[in-house]
Amino acid sequence: MISHYIIHAMRASSWIRKMFETGTELKRKYGAENVFDLSLGNPIIEPPEEFFSQLKKLSEDKTSGKHRYMPNAGFNEVREKISVHLTEEGILESEMGHIVMSCGAGGGINVILRTLLDQGDEVIVLAPFFSEYQFYVRNHHGKVVVAETDENFRIDLNELENKMNKKTKAIILNSPNNPTGVVYPKKDLKELVDFLHLQQKKYNEDIYLISDEPYREIVFDNLTAPSVVPMYENSFLVYSWSKSLAIPGNRIGYIAVNPHMHHIKQVIGGLIFCTRVLGFVNANAIMQLAVNELLNTTIDVSYYENKKKYIYQTLTDAGYDIVKPTGTFYMFPKAPGGDDLGFVEKAKENRVLVVPGVGFGRKGYFRISYCTDDRTIQKACEKLIELL
Ligand SMILES: Cc1ncc(COP(=O)(O)O)c(C=O)c1O
Repeated sequence: MISHYIIHAMRASSWIRKMFETGTELKRKYGAENVFDLSLGNPIIEPPEEFFSQLKKLSEDKTSGKHRYMPNAGFNEVREKISVHLTEEGILESEMGHIVMSCGAGGGINVILRTLLDQGDEVIVLAPFFSEYQFYVRNHHGKVVVAETDENFRIDLNELENKMNKKTKAIILNSPNNPTGVVYPKKDLKELVDFLHLQQKKYNEDIYLISDEPYREIVFDNLTAPSVVPMYENSFLVYSWSKSLAIPGNRIGYIAVNPHMHHIKQVIGGLIFCTRVLGFVNANAIMQLAVNELLNTTIDVSYYENKKKYIYQTLTDAGYDIVKPTGTFYMFPKAPGGDDLGFVEKAKENRVLVVPGVGFGRKGYFRISYCTDDRTIQKACEKLIELL
């Protein structure tokens, strides 16, 4: 008999498996070219050429010591270079000691939560949210508290205040956002920071901000996505190359800690220890050395921007109600009629796969993921318009 909790958690997330199985079944029945799958966040583009050249170079490098165990935080030279990059780019003034390499953003968030949480500590997620957050929090015996965002998916400080109490240990923030594509403006982040300073005083506790930023470079209209991390001392930046280099299978990212964090030595010691004992031990050596030379390289963002423009324009012209996304490769339209599950089912009957809002903690919407080919997108849009 396996853990009761895992039985429950598998049941709670069974819609993900069901979506995947339905997709596979439909593709088998009608042929893959006749199923229009906008459900997965798994980019179909290949990594940039520079990634392959770097791998080739590394595969030919036989200098000793590159494939051994290393300090659990990662190679010092890589951490050093990332901290210089963050400082020079104006993202976060940091030093090598503030960086801990991780197995993607998922690995990084788990390491942070394991470091911070005692049984029953509360972690706030802002709905709609990346659905794995709830399981990450529960992995470490935390309690998930959902705070709604407003109708434009922006942070609602009144709602947040209502959800906070003495047990609030952390808030997970994700900008650019999956599933909405929204990028929080600097003004909103500043207001959030002022609010959190007041809350820390009110409860006389440290309240940590975990800023999950795997889509940092995937922003449109010449925007840059501001990070909250330099503004708030008790914050962690979680980054991943899964999306920016299209290498999610390779599991590489990092945690950067704001240098002014309270009890910083203890916290970073905790992150390093948890990287070790959660079984990651350290982030993949080859990947660390690869990204070390690719800190200024990303996939071509216009590839996603063009798709976003087409889908947003086509669907809003047809009458869909969508908050305009300014980043990522997702958008989150209102489900016609308001019943997201019913709508997604109808879409499926028309061989279009999208994800119901309920999976992200917000009923009445559905998520479109457009990291796929143009023909699939075009056909899916035609069918979504027929469905209206
Ligand atoms: C918001 C968000 N956070 C974290 C992750 C996990 O990313 P990684 O592959 O780096 O673990 C994803 C993946 O889709 C995501 O959308």
